[in-house]
Amino acid sequence: MPLLELKEITRQFKNGNVVTKVLKGINLSVDEQEFVSIMGPSGSGKSTLLNIIGCLDRPSSGTYSLAGEQVEKLSDGKLADIRNNFIGFVFQSFHLLHDLDAQANVELPLIYRGMSARLRHKLAETALDAVGLAHRRHHRPSQLSGGEQQRVAIARAIVGEPKVILADEPTGALDSRTGENIMAIFQKLNQEQGMTIVQVTHDKVVSEYGHRVVYLKDGEIAQEEIIGEEAKNLW
Ligand SMILES: Nc1ncnc2c1ncn2[C@@H]1O[C@H](COP(=O)(O)OP(=O)(O)OP(=O)(O)O)[C@@H](O)[C@H]1O
Ligand SMILES: [Mg+2]
Repeated sequence: MPLLELKEITRQFKNGNVVTKVLKGINLSVDEQEFVSIMGPSGSGKSTLLNIIGCLDRPSSGTYSLAGEQVEKLSDGKLADIRNNFIGFVFQSFHLLHDLDAQANVELPLIYRGMSARLRHKLAETALDAVGLAHRRHHRPSQLSGGEQQRVAIARAIVGEPKVILADEPTGALDSRTGENIMAIFQKLNQEQGMTIVQVTHDKVVSEYGHRVVYLKDGEIAQEEIIGEEAKNLW
């Protein structure tokens, strides 16, 4: 059974009399421990799709099951629970809170779980260490470089040990060297901790860190490509 299974998913937005059809029948399955990249032109529906996969948004029609649970049947409360315990998000613009230092930003998702402060500190330290930022834990976002902020965002996404990481252009704001460091972190989380990863990217090199690349075009899956070991060995 796939971990994520989308069948004939559509999403349309209605603004007054104007209906915009953004996703037009997406069929996509992702297995546990898979690493999938989504590519496609601007406006093709990548973020819309990722938001549905992450239960931040609901489809207009179609079915989505996540670890065997049919998402459209779940209440908003249950959906929030799943988001909080099951999924780690990395947003393109980081979404860090500027008044909090790196450590406190990483601890945030754990607060919603009602965890003791001591355990929160410990897990946040471990997550910051995993992205190579233990020495920056008392810096606020304004005192960190773009790549460091992105790594704090990744630490926050992984701190609760989610089964799935969803990342919308995790390297979009970074130079290629820093981007490759981020991909090395993803690869390690995927291979050593068995995390399932779905990432959106515009960068071909970044996409090929995945096992599979799914190309979206105008709200539909236009093509899928399996990335072979040969391609990976080029790095
Ligand atoms: N709330 C909304 N109302 C109307 N149209 C929307 C809404 N949200 C998104 N869209 C439209 O859906 C299309 C797809 O948006 P989406 O953000 O998924 O694109 P994307 O593939 O992530 O693009 P990019 O690479 O630029 O981030 C866009 O044309 C956008 O204008
Ligand atoms: Mg987008």
